Amino acid sequence: MSYPHQIKSLEQYNEAYKKSIENPEEFWGEIAENFTWKKKWDKVSNWNFKEPNIKWFEGGKLNITENCIDRHLAERGEQPAIIWEPNNPEEKTRIVTYNRLHKRVCQVAQMLTNLGVKKGDRVCIYMGMIPELTYAVLGCARIGAIHSVIFGGFSAQSIADRLEDASAEYIITCDGAYRGNKDIPLKSVIDDALIGNKTVKKVIVYTRTRTPVSMIKNRDLWWEDEMEQAEEQVEKNGKVSFPAVEMDSEDPLFILYTSGSTGKPKGVVHSTAGYMVWANYTFVNVFQYQPGQVHFCTADIGWITGHSYIVYGPLSAGGTSLMFEGIPTWPDAGRFWEIVEKYKVDVLYTAPTAIRSLMAYGLDFVNNKDLSSLKVLGTVGEPINEEAWQWYFKNIGKEKCPIVDTWWQTETGGIMISNLAGVTPHKPAHATLPLPGVNPCLVDENGVEILGNSVSGNLCIKQPWPGIIRTTYNDHERCRTTYFSTYENMYFTGDGCLRDADGNYRITGRVDDVLNVSGHRIGTAEVENAINMHSGVVESAVVGYPHDIKGQGIYAYVIYDNKHTADENLTKQDIIQTVSRIIGAIAKPDKIQFVSGLPKTRSGKIMRRILRKIAEGETSNLGDTTTLLDPNVVDEIKNGALL
Ligand code: PRX
Repeated sequence: MSYPHQIKSLEQYNEAYKKSIENPEEFWGEIAENFTWKKKWDKVSNWNFKEPNIKWFEGGKLNITENCIDRHLAERGEQPAIIWEPNNPEEKTRIVTYNRLHKRVCQVAQMLTNLGVKKGDRVCIYMGMIPELTYAVLGCARIGAIHSVIFGGFSAQSIADRLEDASAEYIITCDGAYRGNKDIPLKSVIDDALIGNKTVKKVIVYTRTRTPVSMIKNRDLWWEDEMEQAEEQVEKNGKVSFPAVEMDSEDPLFILYTSGSTGKPKGVVHSTAGYMVWANYTFVNVFQYQPGQVHFCTADIGWITGHSYIVYGPLSAGGTSLMFEGIPTWPDAGRFWEIVEKYKVDVLYTAPTAIRSLMAYGLDFVNNKDLSSLKVLGTVGEPINEEAWQWYFKNIGKEKCPIVDTWWQTETGGIMISNLAGVTPHKPAHATLPLPGVNPCLVDENGVEILGNSVSGNLCIKQPWPGIIRTTYNDHERCRTTYFSTYENMYFTGDGCLRDADGNYRITGRVDDVLNVSGHRIGTAEVENAINMHSGVVESAVVGYPHDIKGQGIYAYVIYDNKHTADENLTKQDIIQTVSRIIGAIAKPDKIQFVSGLPKTRSGKIMRRILRKIAEGETSNLGDTTTLLDPNVVDEIKNGALL
């Protein structure tokens, strides 16, 4: 497979960029020719940001799994599609060829069909990082069922909310998952999530850890049994087949829940053709992937990065995607580097938080590994600080690998602003330039565009790209108000951004009440709601503060009913436990400060600006506090700050 749409030089980038903005129809029409269609599109794009109503490749018919699997079989059926590295390095690696992937995905498609799953049905997937997770995702896509993968770190309550929001009727899970020295009892979490649930009909359970699990008659089924039956059905005379269901370009492919500044997580919906084109185009160009290379994206498939750069991007390009079950620090902090050495990884794509955490363990874990196979390094999920960038460049890339700092979001489907490895220059701590098709702009609070260079503002995008969010599941109005109403006729990212003298973009972080903890998005309102569920909590306010490893930590100011605070530390533990139960361990506050009041304006609004400054260790320059209902409360909070 060659990549005719791969940009090879700075001139080509400039040319492609210009054309993509001036004539997107022709530009994307040509790119879309690189895919397998059951029927070609009638119209490349059709959109307005007002409703919003966004369509790409309207009238086209396709199935994304034919693009990710079937079309590669003739040429590279025996090439590894997935290399799987287990949590425990002593356990056997699994190499899944394209032929094998085809068979397994056909089996899952058949299994789901046997169980009554149809096009458009929602299937929730809650599994560890094992090849079966990829089979499950692609098996859904093959029959047009909408997959909604939930990260293994979310609690039963979070899953219950998502199941309800999506009215999911099917779940695919595991008995448990291995992560470092822990076994996570996934099925048991699902059992809790299903208490009171009215929509789920079947739960398919894959055996990974052989943890004892409850199995309810007529509802819970073993993956192994169902897959065995399906195998007989899809394999005839040594040939495997299961027809890929014909999907419209705009049929939804998946839902992925993500946090916002208010209320509960929302289900970001991506549709089939546009997402496929975008995941593939960005994969091939940003990483400058070459056929045969090993691409190692360390994300979990429970996040968008895993969807786009473990599954759909690499596989649509006929690539080899390395999937890792474990964590970077177990059995020791050399695990990533050991994997790079073992599989001669070409491209390594990880998060700044992982880099910072591994930096702290020192170079002994790095220097005894052969990292000479590496050609491209990447980061994603949060701003990378210059120190981490330099460490990565020097010690991992040995100063010969370009680093792509890729800015994007769950809602954008794929990378939006990034250098193209070795083709456009990198600049430490800068995402640099927009990809073809991405038309960014900075605006001030009134929505006025800030032109020129060496400026900063709120980052918006002026025209749609194929991978843009289509709706938020079951609540289109929420999609409109969150992304398309803050600034007229623009998609608002929620991020603040600088544009340097050369036109390079540097994303500075969220400008809304969303935290980025270890590259994971968490809404402050969501954490506050969870804290407030604790029986003794009267009110709380949550802000972020700079954290050496996580990027941002969670700082909670809590008004607590005094009767119960005999042992403050225990109470804090109780609150943390409550948050774990309601959202999941990823949202646990790092610091909890008990306060008697919160700084509020006379209209009752919490002045988070002040709380943020105190959490950041700033005590003198708090700005104007005269509008506060009770300015004294600020001194009390300052004096008790946990720094
Ligand atoms: O604030 C930006 C930050 O992560 C947010 C998106 O989070 P999520 O939807 O969970 O997707 C993460 C993986 C794509 C953005 O609004 N972000 C992501 N990448 C970068 C970044 N901030 C700075 N630099 C980046 N490269």
